[in-house]
Amino acid sequence: MRAIGVTGFGGGPDALQVLDVPEPHPGKGEVRVRVHAATVNPTDSGVRAGRYRDRHENPDGPFIPGADAAGVVDEIGEGSRWAVGDRVAVVVVPFRTAGGAYQDHVVVPDASVLRLPDDVDLVAGSTFLMNALTARLVLDELALVPGQTLAVTGAAGALGGYTVQMAKADGLRVVADASEADEPLVRSLGADVVVRRGDDVAARIRAEVPDGVDGLLDGSVQAERVLAAVKDGGRVGAIRAWEGDTERGIDVHRVLVYDSVDRADLVEGLQRQLADGVYTLRVADVLPAERAAEAHRRLEAGGVRGRLVLDFS
Ligand SMILES: NC(=O)c1ccc[n+]([C@@H]2O[C@H](COP(=O)([O-])OP(=O)(O)OC[C@H]3O[C@@H](n4cnc5c(N)ncnc54)[C@H](OP(=O)(O)O)[C@@H]3O)[C@@H](O)[C@H]2O)c1
Repeated sequence: MRAIGVTGFGGGPDALQVLDVPEPHPGKGEVRVRVHAATVNPTDSGVRAGRYRDRHENPDGPFIPGADAAGVVDEIGEGSRWAVGDRVAVVVVPFRTAGGAYQDHVVVPDASVLRLPDDVDLVAGSTFLMNALTARLVLDELALVPGQTLAVTGAAGALGGYTVQMAKADGLRVVADASEADEPLVRSLGADVVVRRGDDVAARIRAEVPDGVDGLLDGSVQAERVLAAVKDGGRVGAIRAWEGDTERGIDVHRVLVYDSVDRADLVEGLQRQLADGVYTLRVADVLPAERAAEAHRRLEAGGVRGRLVLDFS
């Protein structure tokens, strides 16, 4: 069957090629999905480039990116609670020997599967689970209570956008960053206060919240530059390696979504919220799977709003 991936690390987007890989079959408690749509996330470029080379189960490759897909269940393993024909989104760990979501079929554990509401199509549905699960993990780590204030940087991005909407649903006050062009989008997601993005974002957040925010998601990966926005003893959610120091007793919590793809409880909560219309699903463009290199180039150039989606149907 068809997959898109690389046979070695370090190449640019054009290193992505169409591969012929064996068809997988589900084991106990697993499900196989015929992939219709797979999203292109920043981490996919990292997989291609070898940023996670030490994590791959099979060091010989091929290396198949992709963390998010949507499609239709077409085979179930023994004891699976899913059924053939279910329309689902799945989160996929790309470091497995079987690779990530850029494939005609993926096999995942039952816990990594979310039922899509009838009114959510497979393309839009593919853009949700991995980033929403990451947002949930970050907010759980920050452990804020209703009425406390969360700052979100990179708020116009996929992770940032879901975090803003989730935090509002959790009863938090949200301060988010945006460029001038993105401000209407970020406001429409529910941010209470929008500040201009940039190197001095922490000072702008402080100007709005003089004592500092209780927690912050560093969705723009600005690391130490965001710390000044956070109150003494506050918390930061980091979604990339945090190489610098912290200060004033601020705790930095590193989250890696792939460590938590067995959290059926969290996925079920997200499924309910998605059905309740809590989240805005944003698709930038849909490209044939064979044009994955173009999708990587566009994502890496920056400025994409909504997710690029590869069509595997
Ligand atoms: N640890 C995990 O498990 C996990 C899970 C999901 C995502 N992530 C990571 O989270 C990050 C965000 O992911 P995403 O999918 O939301 O990416 P995205 O959709 O590209 O959003 C990132 C946002 O941050 C903005 N940004 C980038 N650099 C900035 C800077 N220096 N100052 C201000 N804004 C800046 C981007 O603007 P431009 O487009 O204009 O550059 C964009 O709006 C990525 O690094 C991704 O790898 C980690």
